[in-house]
Amino acid sequence: MATERSVAEGRIAWTRRHMPVLVETMAEFSVRRPFEGITVGFRLHIEPKTAVLIETLIAGGARIIAMGNDGTTQFGTAEALSSPKCEILDRPGDGPEAALANLDQIASAEPDLVLDNGAELIVACLGGGRPPRGATEETTSGSFLLRERHAGQIEFPIIVINDSPLKSIVENKHGVGESVVDTVVRVTNVSFHKKHVVVYGYGWCGKGIALYADRRGADVTVVEVDPIKALEAAMDGFDVADSTTAAATAQIVITATGRPDVVDFDVIEKMPDGVLLANAGHVDTEIAIRTMERAAPGIQLAPSLKRHDLPNGKSVFSIADGKIVNLAADGGIGNPIEAMDLGLTLQARSLAVLIDPTLDLQPGPQAVPDAVNARVAAAVLRSMGQQPAGPRG
Ligand SMILES: NC(=O)c1ccc[n+]([C@@H]2O[C@H](COP(=O)([O-])OP(=O)(O)OC[C@H]3O[C@@H](n4cnc5c(N)ncnc54)[C@H](O)[C@@H]3O)[C@@H](O)[C@H]2O)c1
Repeated sequence: MATERSVAEGRIAWTRRHMPVLVETMAEFSVRRPFEGITVGFRLHIEPKTAVLIETLIAGGARIIAMGNDGTTQFGTAEALSSPKCEILDRPGDGPEAALANLDQIASAEPDLVLDNGAELIVACLGGGRPPRGATEETTSGSFLLRERHAGQIEFPIIVINDSPLKSIVENKHGVGESVVDTVVRVTNVSFHKKHVVVYGYGWCGKGIALYADRRGADVTVVEVDPIKALEAAMDGFDVADSTTAAATAQIVITATGRPDVVDFDVIEKMPDGVLLANAGHVDTEIAIRTMERAAPGIQLAPSLKRHDLPNGKSVFSIADGKIVNLAADGGIGNPIEAMDLGLTLQARSLAVLIDPTLDLQPGPQAVPDAVNARVAAAVLRSMGQQPAGPRG
């Protein structure tokens, strides 16, 4: 009988097959051993794609002490990874207090390198003890915390992965765009053809969502507060409107701004009967789902799909309670594996750069080095059977 662990092992094997760039890096690291004698404090969702990253670091000689992010640890994957080289601290049922204790435990182990998603582990490592030699931070919000609240306090280099133009293009635009639209279709089983889809935010994620909705035949309107981004949306062929105008005829609404209170309840009340609401941003308050819940408690129709019968007689449908849809919806498996092949290879190579004795990196948050971006971009192109033109001359 299949166990949680054996299912996870199968899923990791499938995932590894679709991460050719990270697997190529794993082969190189297993010879070069850049992390020999190095302990990596690791805080990122523990799931099959990050499992292949952990395998890559271990192949390079690292010892890992890890925890997931915000209760996202998949315990079958954690079990499959556990070994003398990899300790995963999360336990089923852990709450916020256990997560804080795990942060402290990793910081107290004085890791040589830190890989973080949200910067709380990096901040925990600032509190005395031997500082790490370097760190990577996955997110923009983590980099804000480091650049604003902890400016001047950081004595080691931190490479901010989200600042890489490659990640914006492959992961935020195409990975999020494809997986968000796919998840909405999978949860609802409705087609996008000729639906009026309103996308809030035309940053990297919003651009991708608008693009993939368009590719599925939707009529897309963009609501964007930045006039330059709004102009870009218009030049890309989408209608651009203010929230109230766009919402008046919306059939599917998807938010991707990362800001709270973007779609207020009074705007929802003006939307047509039957409108479907989903959020792709990290905060679950972009759409006023909680206010709507108070006025019209959701009736569960299917996993991750609720109907709200508003006092004005209209019915509104919400997916995953307004949480980040491609991860939080039932069966949400996040960005496609290939998109994460790129992002997690940037992580692996950036960690190696941080301890490269030939480089002298400045302390504090900084971008992924150009040489790493160029190398990973070329490798991803090759994995797609494409190649750059190479230098002129
Ligand atoms: N779903 C996923 O898997 C996933 C992956 C990566 C990032 N994200 C999240 O998606 C969100 C957007 O990320 P991004 O990389 O596109 O950010 P971004 O900064 O590139 O884009 C956000 C856009 O929203 C616009 N905006 C802000 N407030 C607005 C409002 N009230 N109405 C309309 N537009 C508004 C901004 O002007 C900006 O253009 C963030 O929360 C990010 O963390 C989700």
